[in-house]
Amino acid sequence: MELTTQREDFNRQNFGDDFIWGVATAAFQVEGSCDCDGKGESIWDVFSAKRGKIKNGDKPHIACDFYNRYKEDIDLIKQLNIPHFRFSISWSRILPSGIGEINQLGIDHYNRVIDYCLEQGVEPWVTIYHWDLPQVLEAKGGWTNREVVNWFSEFVRICASNFGDKVKNWMVMNEPSVFTGAGYFLGVHAPGRLGLGNFLPAVHHALMSIAAGGRLLRELLPNTAEIGTTFSCSYIEAKSDKPRDVAAANQVNTLLNRLYIEPILGLGYPEKDLPVLKKMKKYIRPGDVESMQFDFDFIGVQLYTREIVEYSFLTPYIHANIVKAKKRNVPLTDMGWEVYPPSIYEILKQFNQYTNIRKLYITENGAAFPDEVNDDAVNDVKRTAYLQEYLQQVLKAKNEGCKVSGYFVWTLTDNFEWAEGYNPRFGLIHVNFDTQQRIIKSSGQWYGDFIKA
Ligand code: FCB
Repeated sequence: MELTTQREDFNRQNFGDDFIWGVATAAFQVEGSCDCDGKGESIWDVFSAKRGKIKNGDKPHIACDFYNRYKEDIDLIKQLNIPHFRFSISWSRILPSGIGEINQLGIDHYNRVIDYCLEQGVEPWVTIYHWDLPQVLEAKGGWTNREVVNWFSEFVRICASNFGDKVKNWMVMNEPSVFTGAGYFLGVHAPGRLGLGNFLPAVHHALMSIAAGGRLLRELLPNTAEIGTTFSCSYIEAKSDKPRDVAAANQVNTLLNRLYIEPILGLGYPEKDLPVLKKMKKYIRPGDVESMQFDFDFIGVQLYTREIVEYSFLTPYIHANIVKAKKRNVPLTDMGWEVYPPSIYEILKQFNQYTNIRKLYITENGAAFPDEVNDDAVNDVKRTAYLQEYLQQVLKAKNEGCKVSGYFVWTLTDNFEWAEGYNPRFGLIHVNFDTQQRIIKSSGQWYGDFIKA
């Protein structure tokens, strides 16, 4: 990627006064305090304790210690002029047994976080579920058990009734494709289950839960809440014009970008373009297609990269293979993801074609690069350039009429990057995981100045 300096004519005003500027985190990646104050175990506590599941054997017990240091970190958000803060609620802190008895200490904790945000003039955006299912529910089948729709609804109801007077912006769930795909098909994320027989019911029940959660929030918080949910997306291109590569790319685009959102939008499962979805019939009951639909106030799009796809005889179900960015001689982040700014423009255009999406936000975008601390400073030029270039593409889409209304950087502080452990650093703020010292990186400074201007 070219390390361009910021163009002079590129500034916050280009996006309009109402554009939402934010930063996003997730409970399990930052909080630590995994077994404090009555918290129950989540699938990520159990998965990350297993040998060989997390790179370098990294442990989540402390992470960024956000559970104790939330004030310091919210102060930093304020210092960076970031008006909107997206974070998630740990289900097992509030319901240690998944359902049933409420842990008041968990409720009190999130009330303190929300109150502190509001006191500092930072608007809280709550993600209800960011992948950390209570382990007791996983023991009953987790997302593969249709009962999960009721379990999840109970959790949503508790969040709405305890925080709904203060929280105006809600995201029901984070990226169902990743926690079902990586967690229930590939087994590389919690709970580490494999195969289609786990994946398909997990997808179906996650989508039923998303719509049920949206409906509940609207019922319990009428008129006051802005209700959304988020999807992971990647811009997909075929490796060549050969019909087989084009067909393979179409399958991957359907799997990664369409499968999850289209049932929510009332379009049903896209089984014409992804025939393996015919096997989903087994899990669909009468009325499900209707109840998977919900008219969200906004859809959160989370995008990092593009994928190039080729035909592959050997890949089961989709006959498609993603050509690793590493093999393509392109600029990479520390996750091995290609830096390709137009991907965010292309995906916004693609999602903008769904006429029944009311509003789009980029609820995550950012990059992991190996940072160096020199004299208590981190001059992360690559991350700054990444953010600038991707934002320029967001603006291009907006100027062409896309209904994109906000942008959240992933993420505030370096944190526990799931199965990758602490190595990939995505933060605007550097964390020394031995001392918990924070250093605002130059990308964070840049983002703050950009928002303020
Ligand atoms: C997204 C996740 C987020 C983080 C980023 C890098 O898929 O929602 O928690 O891991 O990727």
